Amino acid sequence: MEKETCTFSYCAEPEIVEVETDILLIGGGMACCGAAFEAARWATPKGIKIVMVDKAATDRSGSVAMGLSAINTYMGENDPADYVRYVRADLMGIIREDLVYDLGRHVDDSVHLFEEWGLPIWKTLDDGKKVDGAEGRKVGKLLKDGGKPVRSGRWQIMINGESYKVIVAEAAKKALEYNRQATGMEQNLFERVFIVKLIPDANNPNRVAGAVGFSVREHKAYVFKAKVMLLAAGGCVNVFRPRSTGEGMGRTWFAVWNAGSTYAMPAELGAKMVLMENRFVPARFKDGYGPVGAWFLFFKAKATNAIGEDYCAKYHDMLKERYGKYAEILGTCLRNTAMMEDMKIGLGPIWMRTDLAFEEAKKHMDAKELKHLEAEAWEDFLDMTIAQAGLWAANNIRPEEKYSELMPSEPYLLGSHAGCAGLWTSGPEDICKKHGLDEYFWGYNRMTTIDGLFTAGDGCGASGHKFSSGSHAEGRIAGKEMVRYVLDHQDYTPTLAKDPKEYVAEIFLPFEIYEKYKNYTTDPNVNPHYIRPSMLQKRLQKIMDEYVAGAGYWYMTSKTMLEEGLRQLEMLKEDSLRMAAADHHELMRCWENYHRIVAGEAHARHILFREETRYPGYYFRGDFPQIDDENWKCFTVSRINPENGQWEFEKIPYKQIIPD
Ligand code: FAD
Ligand code: ADX
Repeated sequence: MEKETCTFSYCAEPEIVEVETDILLIGGGMACCGAAFEAARWATPKGIKIVMVDKAATDRSGSVAMGLSAINTYMGENDPADYVRYVRADLMGIIREDLVYDLGRHVDDSVHLFEEWGLPIWKTLDDGKKVDGAEGRKVGKLLKDGGKPVRSGRWQIMINGESYKVIVAEAAKKALEYNRQATGMEQNLFERVFIVKLIPDANNPNRVAGAVGFSVREHKAYVFKAKVMLLAAGGCVNVFRPRSTGEGMGRTWFAVWNAGSTYAMPAELGAKMVLMENRFVPARFKDGYGPVGAWFLFFKAKATNAIGEDYCAKYHDMLKERYGKYAEILGTCLRNTAMMEDMKIGLGPIWMRTDLAFEEAKKHMDAKELKHLEAEAWEDFLDMTIAQAGLWAANNIRPEEKYSELMPSEPYLLGSHAGCAGLWTSGPEDICKKHGLDEYFWGYNRMTTIDGLFTAGDGCGASGHKFSSGSHAEGRIAGKEMVRYVLDHQDYTPTLAKDPKEYVAEIFLPFEIYEKYKNYTTDPNVNPHYIRPSMLQKRLQKIMDEYVAGAGYWYMTSKTMLEEGLRQLEMLKEDSLRMAAADHHELMRCWENYHRIVAGEAHARHILFREETRYPGYYFRGDFPQIDDENWKCFTVSRINPENGQWEFEKIPYKQIIPD
């Protein structure tokens, strides 16, 4: 088919808004809010400008949108070296220990700030009594003054976090406003602006100079020029066919805003990516995707198969036989494997025995405490997964009486939860120098292999288990480093590689295509000239599910399956040149899907490259079912060569700095 171009002959040309800044933050989640807060402190006195752009409304955008009921990374009395050991064990032995240690030593400061800004954190009082956040604020000490949190697990602390994101966003917005006033900018927070592409510098293709996107509400294109950027637009959801269908469609565990932009845009510029084969398959309450952490760790509930057997205990020896030392402690992916073993032989449904947890609690709690615990069970979901509470209500489930079903969900690509896909970044100077980690250091902490492009949170690979607090802290680390970068490059003026109008025409092409061809057929969804985003997405999800180890295929794939999947992805990418959009919302859907396709392709290619099953329970390679340390205990790093568009792979050695 002939290539279409957009000359704005069929759709109206948008207004182009050009914005110049020193620092650009793309995303408005935990990492970017952390970066805005930290960078503003150092940048503002120097007159350095900061601009943040979020595709949604920052108060409720990203993974923390609905709120959370725990902060999953808080060191407190723990040594960051132990945190590294825990993350390493859960992620099957391959992590960037420099990045993880760095995070561990900084994360608590972010949690202390959250509390200062008003986040209610549960407290353990001197007499051992546990109180929730509001009460704790009245009678307990702040964490920074020696107050003791309520631990659900060794690393997790309980919060009343319905408004967590609003609180964190408020601090970021105030910091941005302080910077705006001091530097005389007209506007420096752009909400509901979706970034589609990064623009390289005209004089150096390996340096980022700009970003281009559009408003999802107004007919406007945005072109940002910046000396340095943080791209922290979360991970990738809806790249696999979800378990939800029909009336449940749209419900997923991961935040729906995060469509792989963090991976796709740098990949297209030639940034190196690491461990993109990794994914997260969360075991969740079925259909509502309610998290399990509080149930396992705080309520001490057990999950069993349909006949009451603890599947983790049942298969522990078998898993040790298969995966050796990696199965000594059953990490997140191996717990999934055990669950699936029973599901595959018909021993499902898998039950979270909420009823038994309450029975146990009754033995040592009085009536008032029990009532509070019951309320907490509901609040856990009302705080962060409202749909799950709705589902309980709709199904007449009282968790203290009736157990609920668990299910391994569809896969998500992310780098901050129990997964470690992402971009390959430079580490902290002191740790890298001390341990001779030359391959992991090129000047600025958390800078990618593209000059001037930083990442954090879900974007920064090989260092999972940061969660909300760690993503914020990592954003702060990057924020401070970006100020240093600007100060070190004062003579640099970004020059865009192409005329912004060319990028804008490319972005609005789906409008032009739709308007040009919409009357060729009577049903606007079926048309030989274009594909609308919902169909494009379904095709992508089907390919990923069927060939790239989706939930529908028990997370199983192989070389031959992947090769066929990649062939189909190529065709899909070709067809994406004919995406069509009837309105701004659909235009966003088009580009989200494009980002998903690139992220999905990276995922498939990485799985193909790593010839072993490193993460059983996240995915299995039927042709290489074992863990093969001799050949694969290394970082798998990929890059699209911008000169010829070919994917290139390399192995970079894993270096252990924290002893076992
Ligand atoms: P996010 O916070 O997700 O932010 C991404 C941002 O990018 C959003 O503002 C989005 O609007 C924006 N964006 C995306 N694409 C674009 C684009 N193209 N252009 C512009 N902007 C864009 N952690 C805990 O500590 N405790 C918990 O209990 C917990 N529960 C969780 C429950 C769920 C359901 C999920 C999904 C995560 C949970 N986490 C929890 C993890 C935590 O939320 C994440 O680790 C953290 O939010 C990651 O931060 P981030 O900044 O990388 O991404
Ligand atoms: S949430 O972020 O969506 O709330 P989840 O419920 O999986 O995630 O996990 C919250 C925390 O509990 C994470 O730190 C996770 O590693 C931990 N966790 C969840 N289930 C278990 C378990 N069975 N054993 C140990 N830790 C767990």
